[in-house]
This record gives sequence, structure tokens and C-alpha cells, in this order.
Amino acid sequence: MKQKIIEDLNPNIVETWGGRTARLHHTLQEDNLFSDDVLASLIERMPQAVSPINTMAASGHDADTWSYCDRSGLSGHDVLEAIKRGRLWINMQKLEEHDSRFEALLEDIYAELGQEIPGFKPFRKSLGLLISSPNAQVFYHADVPGQSLWQVRGEKRIHIYPPNEPFLRPKDLENIIRGVTEEEIRYDPSYDAHAEVYDLKAGDMLHWELNGPHRVTNGNCLNVSVTTEHWTPMIRRSFAMNYGNGVLRSELGWTPKSRALSGPAFWAKVALTAFWRKSGLQQKQSFKRVMRFRVNPNAPEGISPMSIGAAE
Ligand SMILES: [Fe+2]
Repeated sequence: MKQKIIEDLNPNIVETWGGRTARLHHTLQEDNLFSDDVLASLIERMPQAVSPINTMAASGHDADTWSYCDRSGLSGHDVLEAIKRGRLWINMQKLEEHDSRFEALLEDIYAELGQEIPGFKPFRKSLGLLISSPNAQVFYHADVPGQSLWQVRGEKRIHIYPPNEPFLRPKDLENIIRGVTEEEIRYDPSYDAHAEVYDLKAGDMLHWELNGPHRVTNGNCLNVSVTTEHWTPMIRRSFAMNYGNGVLRSELGWTPKSRALSGPAFWAKVALTAFWRKSGLQQKQSFKRVMRFRVNPNAPEGISPMSIGAAE
């Protein structure tokens, strides 16, 4: 019989799924999918466009230090070496489209969740892999779809904040959803008093409230984490409402008053969202993060600046 991936999905967690942070235990760290050799071969096979390497400042919260790094021509083990010694992370996205073992893993995870949680039937789901340096941090940000983090190797601390003001302003969420900015948002250290704080080690999993801002700090060790994300009909409605409100606020000069997910105003926003996305108007202003560094396994921080003119 196949081993279960999720260990303690109790009735309490089932009842509050998606509304309150769920902490569970899993068995992914026992799988041989996460050895250095498998990770190195994945890094080599994945196109850079869907597995960007990021870096950001060791301390502080200056989102301008968040940059992409080029890794062309390097072996997977070289890149792993740079991550082990530097301050980097690689975000391998949509692994289910590139490797059948991860496709099967994604199906198994959601089959287990769907079996236990009544009505939880995402119509779209995806699996990513984050490999990150000792002490690396991921700045305060919010994600668009439903998110879970499955810690496989190493230790990290995650702060999770409520998905409402002042922690997440509607305008900021609208901009993320419309692709005007990437996920980073305004952070103030005073928010920490309102955060939930979790220390994750191999075998821990967290699923939190939709769009809940969060920031992550690694322990002094290499970290390997799986991320899963999903879309349900309710998440799609929330996306359309925020998208429509963003167009009203930022493009049409109208301050939206409702965040309802049903009713005539909501359906008008669905129509506006569909029109705006189809019109191509959004693409022109979408934000692109700049590539400023090159991965270098011999450099103390695992990266070297790119020569002027080579950036972008
Ligand atoms: Fe995130």
C-alpha cells in the first residue's frame, strides 16, 4: 500500500481549511526525490524562464535588492554549490509539466486533501520547488492563488500576517493580481506583533489564508521546500473582484466600495476583468524584475555582478 503523504489532517483543520492557518505533518522528506543528485538534474533540465534564481539583501526589507541571477552554462551541482554557500534561491515552477514524478506527487497530495476536505476541489493546481541558501530571506509579500509550503530539508521561520489592512492594502493586492508589481508589498516591523510565527523543519507543512502576506527567514542550513498552489471557484471569484477593483481604481479613477464575491457589482467586475485582460492593455505596464547578477559557485556569496550592458 502506498504511504500517505499527509499525516494529521484532523477535523479541526478540515473545518477551518483556507480560513485559518493549518499546520500539518507530511512524509515528503522520506522520498528520494529531494537528494542533491535529483535536484541538480532538475536544475539542468528546467528552462531558466520557469526556474529563476533570486537574490536579496541579507538584512533589512529593501525590495529593490530583490534581483534575478543568470545561471546559463552552469551544471546543476555548480548551482547547488552556489546556493549552499551564497544568499540565493531557485524557484522551480510548475514542476508537474517537466517531470512525471512531480506530476504524480501533485496528484497524490491533492487526492489526499480532496478525500478529507469536503468540497475542496481545485480546478487548477501546481507544484514548485524552492532551494534556498542558509540564512536567506524572502521579503514580505503576498501570493495570488491558495498556497501551501512543505518543508523537506533544513529549517526556516515564517511570519504570516492577516490578509487585510494595514498588512495588505486592497490597492497593493490589486496591483499584484494585475501584474503591475510582483508580489512585494509595503512592510512595517510593527506588523510583527500581529503575525503568526512558525518554525518549520523537515516534515512540517503550512497552508494559510488566501493572500495572507508572509515573509521567510532560513535557518543556518540549506533549505529545500515544496510549494503547492491551487485555484478553486471561490479563489477565482476573489481574483476577478480584485482585478476589477484594480482597473476601476487605477485606470478609471473610481474608488471601489465593494469586495463582495456575488451580486450585480461583482458580475460587472467579472465582465470588466475579462474585457481588460483580453484588450491587452495590461501587458504593456506589467512589471519585469531585472537580472543583475550571474551565479558563481566560486564567489563568496555565490553570485557576481553582471557586466554593464549585459543586464536585462
Ligand atoms: Fe509566498
